Order: sequence, then structure tokens, then C-alpha cells
Amino acid sequence: MSALDDPKVQAVLTRLHAAARGDLRFFVRHLPMLVGMMLGRPSPPAAEQSAQFKDVYIPISRAQGRFLYLVARSTAAKRIVEFGTSFGVSTIYAAAAARDTGGHVIGTELEPSKRERALANITEAGLADVVDVRLGDALETLRDVPAPIDLVLLDGWKDLYLPVLRLLEPKLRPGSIVLADNIKTFRRSLQPFLDYVESGKHGFHALTLPLADGFEYAVRV
Ligand SMILES: C[S@@+](CC[C@H](N)C(=O)[O-])C[C@H]1O[C@@H](n2cnc3c(N)ncnc32)[C@H](O)[C@@H]1O
Repeated sequence: MSALDDPKVQAVLTRLHAAARGDLRFFVRHLPMLVGMMLGRPSPPAAEQSAQFKDVYIPISRAQGRFLYLVARSTAAKRIVEFGTSFGVSTIYAAAAARDTGGHVIGTELEPSKRERALANITEAGLADVVDVRLGDALETLRDVPAPIDLVLLDGWKDLYLPVLRLLEPKLRPGSIVLADNIKTFRRSLQPFLDYVESGKHGFHALTLPLADGFEYAVRV
């Protein structure tokens, strides 16, 4: 049996995906701010944004989670790094794969209360022993991640996708995969990141998959 099919894991994922539907109320209340973000207007500092979004899940979808699990399994990923853990939905999909490959997940979250809740969810799913969720700014907390990195999920604030990728880049093994969420919604803010991975000039080949609102799939070559 795969760890993703473990009833304990599925029960936590079902609860979290259902709870995340409540995000809609936040989105409706903060529509002008969200439209500004989609138009690529300058955002408040990362920590301020994280505090504002402290009760909002904004998780990857079930299909993206399953895809993350499959990519990790097909590449036998041992070291999986995640930028933006929130309540731990994506972390649980990655950790289920890590359980099956004998690997581990290094996540990172800026908002302390979210990290606590993520750890509780990951523990409830029975996956705490394969996960380390670091507290703080990913640009600091991911600095000492050892090489080689097999798989990266970028899902924090959008202006940091490229800086976080550049930070991790020297440690990516050839053939490693970088997945990145929300490509269509935040295309303007993400353009520098997309140019970087899709131009073929920086050691990546990439395309945007039609999963959720665009899931970038980049291969380190
Ligand atoms: C879209 S949510 C992540 C959702 C999560 N991947 C999931 O599928 O459940 C983005 C998260 O990234 C966190 N974040 C944003 N900027 C960050 C930074 N510089 N360092 C660490 N975490 C950050 C935010 O606080 C927020 O909880």
C-alpha cells in the first residue's frame, strides 16, 4: 500500500481540503487586495502578508497533491524542499511520498501559528518523522539545506519564487524537478521566474501544466 492511501493520511487530507473551502469568505472580503496582487502591484512585506493570511489555507488541489506524490515517487525523491507550508496540505502529500521512498521533506513557514497547525496536522497523519518544517523566511531557513535536492515545491509569496529557486539551485541534482503553483493567477508577478525556467538559458526545461490555476513543471538539466 502507498502511504498516500493510508486511511489516517486520507482522513487528514479530506478534513483539510474541506476546511480550505472556507478561504472563499476571506477572498470575498479582501477582493481589492487580491486583484492588486493578481495585477502584480507591489505587495506588503512577506511577514505582514503572512500575518494577514494566517487563517487562510490556500492549499494545492487534490490533483496537484496527487501529482506531487507521483512525481516524487517516479523520481525516487529522497530530499523534497517546500517553500510555503501553510497548514501542511502539500507537505502531507510530499511526506507520504517521502515515507515510500525513504526520504524526507523540509518545509518552511513564516507565520508561527500556521507552522504549529501544520505540525499538528502532519503528526495526525502519522508523518511527523519524515518532515521538518522550519520557521522563518525561506531565504534564511532554506540556506543550509544539504545537497542533493531531488524535488522542490514553490508555493509561498510569488515575488520570492525566483530568489528561493536561485538559493536552492546549486544543490539541485541533474534531473531534479521544480513544481510551482498559481502560474496563471499571478502570471505578472511570476514572469521573471517563468522567463528564468522556460528560456532554456539557465539549466532548466519547463512548461506550465493545466492543473488548478497552472502548475509549473521544470526539470533541472
Ligand atoms: C499558498 S500558501 C502555501 C500552501 C501550502 N503549500 C499547501 O498546499 O497547503 C503560502 C504560504 O507561504 C508562506 N510564506 C510566504 N512567504 C514566505 C517566506 N518568505 N518564507 C516562508 N514562508 C512563507 C505564507 O505564510 C503562506 O502560509
